[in-house]
Amino acid sequence: MIPDDIWAHARDAIFPPESFAAAAGEVAAVLDLADLAGRTLDVLDLPCGPGRHTMAFAEAGHRVVAVDSALSYLHELRSRLATRRAREGDVDVEVVSGDMRTFWRSGAFDLAVNLYHSFGYFADPEEDRATLRCYAASLRPGGKLVLELLGLENLAKRFRPRDWHRMPDGSLHLQERRVRDDWGWLDVDWIFVEDGVERSFSFGHRLYSGRDLRRELLAAGFSDVQLFGGFGGGPYDADAERLVAVATK
Ligand SMILES: C[S@@+](CC[C@H](N)C(=O)[O-])C[C@H]1O[C@@H](n2cnc3c(N)ncnc32)[C@H](O)[C@@H]1O
Repeated sequence: MIPDDIWAHARDAIFPPESFAAAAGEVAAVLDLADLAGRTLDVLDLPCGPGRHTMAFAEAGHRVVAVDSALSYLHELRSRLATRRAREGDVDVEVVSGDMRTFWRSGAFDLAVNLYHSFGYFADPEEDRATLRCYAASLRPGGKLVLELLGLENLAKRFRPRDWHRMPDGSLHLQERRVRDDWGWLDVDWIFVEDGVERSFSFGHRLYSGRDLRRELLAAGFSDVQLFGGFGGGPYDADAERLVAVATK
């Protein structure tokens, strides 16, 4: 499991301003890929992080339940909602502190989204499977799960063992990556250097090929799975940058 403190510490590295700017376009693409555009939906955004997609779904008139385990992100989302409500009126969002392995509401949603590589975090693969079963249980018959991550094939194509970035505040973000378990798992070290002070985080996640993800989604109770190579809806082929699964209950 990814250590809780990384989410708060690495917030600016994970969510640069352009990631917020991209969210409305990603939501429109998700609705198109899921063939749900033009309807008012009950949406589960899990994990919601600081609420990039939650806000975009809500601004588009959908009813959103936003769930995450990181309290700092839920706090950020709640204050974003309070500002929005004070300035422009209400939006229909419920913010919930919860764990993706256990959170479900029976048949309550038309659409569930798991976006920005938020799947595969657990050392025990049964916990990934429990997560997928929770999504399936939360969807109405015919409801859709859209799951977007960096697939094994995407990563292998552009694998870089080390990277570094200078953050807007001048601090450094160094990354080291190691593949293990026959390309089944990625170990990652993130090192932040600010004013000469170093802080390190180690975490990892399971690597899913397109075929693995399809198999797991079908096993979790979805009746149909379509794979795409990005939000643009192209095929999951050698040109794909991301792995986007649209699973129908
Ligand atoms: C890469 S972020 C993506 C957040 C959001 N989907 C987005 O695109 O902005 C991954 C999120 O997973 C959350 N998370 C990690 N483990 C979790 C768990 N067991 N249950 C719920 N949320 C979790 C983190 O707090 C973080 O907000």
